[in-house]
Amino acid sequence: MRPDIGLPDRAATSRETGGELPSGRPLRERRGPGAVTGALAVSRAVTPPAPAAGVARATPDAAPAPRLAAESLDAYFGALHAVKDATLALPDRFVTAIIGPSGCGKSTLLRCLNRMHETVPGARVAGRVLFDGQDIYGRDVNVTAVRQHIGMVFQRPTPFPTMSIHDNVAAGLSTVSPRPSRTEIDAIVEHALHRAALWDEVKDRLRDAATGLSGGQQQRLCIARALAVEPQVLLLDEPTASLDPISAQKVEELVYELRRDMTVVIVTHNMQQAARVSDRTAFMLHGNLVEIAPTKELFTTPRDERTEAYITGRFG
Ligand SMILES: Nc1ncnc2c1ncn2[C@@H]1O[C@H](COP(=O)(O)OP(=O)(O)OP(=O)(O)O)[C@@H](O)[C@H]1O
Ligand SMILES: [Mg+2]
Repeated sequence: MRPDIGLPDRAATSRETGGELPSGRPLRERRGPGAVTGALAVSRAVTPPAPAAGVARATPDAAPAPRLAAESLDAYFGALHAVKDATLALPDRFVTAIIGPSGCGKSTLLRCLNRMHETVPGARVAGRVLFDGQDIYGRDVNVTAVRQHIGMVFQRPTPFPTMSIHDNVAAGLSTVSPRPSRTEIDAIVEHALHRAALWDEVKDRLRDAATGLSGGQQQRLCIARALAVEPQVLLLDEPTASLDPISAQKVEELVYELRRDMTVVIVTHNMQQAARVSDRTAFMLHGNLVEIAPTKELFTTPRDERTEAYITGRFG
């Protein structure tokens, strides 16, 4: 069943959004089976499924159907054209890495994939982003539902400053229907913190303010918060940039493992990290998506000379 992001049966075929959330237009509410509740099955959150033994994964070359796809996507900050005509498919349960020099548009592209870009004043998007074939920018789409199905961890940690560690992780659960019980919420919070490799450091201070955590801990807290609502797609913007090597390794292991359950996109400056954790890698330069290929192929036999120049350290 396709996830309910509040779309009408016939998705709008094209659109251009302005810089503001479409607050003037009533957005359809999620309801019924298959709504966000379906993606938030408490039992799944508390007891993750065992890996499917004997079930072969598709190879990066024979990728399954895309879970998320951008078609002719352009993103602007006022007059600045930050992402230019990007078309890419993100296969289900694959990790796709996005690499490229600073300022090339990696974060902007990522933020277009769950409608965060338009929250910046003056920012604009054109093109389409299809989530299981539905345009997330279509008319009557519930933007909150989009961001629950397509979760994001930002480049800089963004804990809610007035909330405790526990409540930060549980924050996204408040819109789930039916609302999990307190016991269930506690179990989901603990499980998410374990997955984000933070539990041992915070288990005795769950009611303390999240702002009391170090930068690296805050980043893992944000990962836990994103995981708690069990998104189908997780967008990670340099999730290990502020982490020590041990925490970074734990997060890399998590990313690798998450492929069993969800589609992951990770922006990274670290090419070794991209090679370690991803199935496919995209290279961006000056707002252009230059090349996307199976990770091994992109790093060994890139098709575009600009990709080769970048991965061999000739610029960037
Ligand atoms: N809020 C903003 N307002 C105006 N311009 C912005 C804003 N955010 C980013 N830009 C510009 O958009 C372009 C793309 O920026 P983006 O943050 O996507 O790059 P990036 O590849 O993620 O870089 P980095 O690796 O340094 O994080 C850059 O020229 C940047 O200066
Ligand atoms: Mg960035």
